[in-house]
Amino acid sequence: METYAAMRTTFAARDFTDDPVPDEVLHRILDNARFAPSGGNRQGWHVIVVRDEAKRAALGPLIEPTYRRYLAEAKAGANPWNTIEPARIDQATIDATPIPPGLIERLTHAPLLLLVTVDLSVVAAMDQNLSRIAVIPGASIYPFVWNILLAARNEGLGGTLTTFVVAMEPEVKALFGIPERHAVAAMLPIGKPVKQLTRLRRNTVQAFATVDAFDGEPYRA
Ligand SMILES: Cc1cc2nc3c(=O)[nH]c(=O)nc-3n(C[C@H](O)[C@H](O)[C@H](O)COP(=O)(O)O)c2cc1C
Repeated sequence: METYAAMRTTFAARDFTDDPVPDEVLHRILDNARFAPSGGNRQGWHVIVVRDEAKRAALGPLIEPTYRRYLAEAKAGANPWNTIEPARIDQATIDATPIPPGLIERLTHAPLLLLVTVDLSVVAAMDQNLSRIAVIPGASIYPFVWNILLAARNEGLGGTLTTFVVAMEPEVKALFGIPERHAVAAMLPIGKPVKQLTRLRRNTVQAFATVDAFDGEPYRA
């Protein structure tokens, strides 16, 4: 499919038909996604294709507490899981926040479920000495993750980049035998979307691009 069309329509698909994703399609997706960039071209990614029913089921309870906190903080008007302005919601409120029924299962039991990890021992983190959370290490894995979703779109599939399983990383690593030096970067449920969105809500270029300074004139063509 045309590149710009794919970029503009690769949405977060969370509802899938029962159609399976054939292995040759997944292989084609990964075989194209692997051309993603990474710092120093170290390509520290690893993909686990999750087929085992028990392991899929075990992911649900690992997602729940994180998702509950996300929903509770969003409901309170905060930016969930933010480090700059942390929402201060008490645990009882979080525990009482309902999760939309079936949503987690739809993700963990998508036709195709991928876990993506990254080998931190090959990742350059040039912001490691700054007094803020690190951003740069993610740049060595998320272009690859996004390539998977763009390739899936090109195959008529959809999926979502999810990170909520990562808050329980030690448990996830134990479940899948992930080595110590690897970080869990994403869980990707993928399948044929029940509905393909074509108009995504995104800010205009003028809203985020400026000339010569952060508060400079809005950039215009
Ligand atoms: C870094 C990152 C983390 C995300 N984590 C989750 C997640 O844990 N669970 C989830 O359901 N969606 C997650 N998403 C999907 C976003 O909610 C989604 O991309 C965004 O709302 C835009 O959706 P749209 O493309 O359908 O408009 C994540 C997306 C990104 C880029």
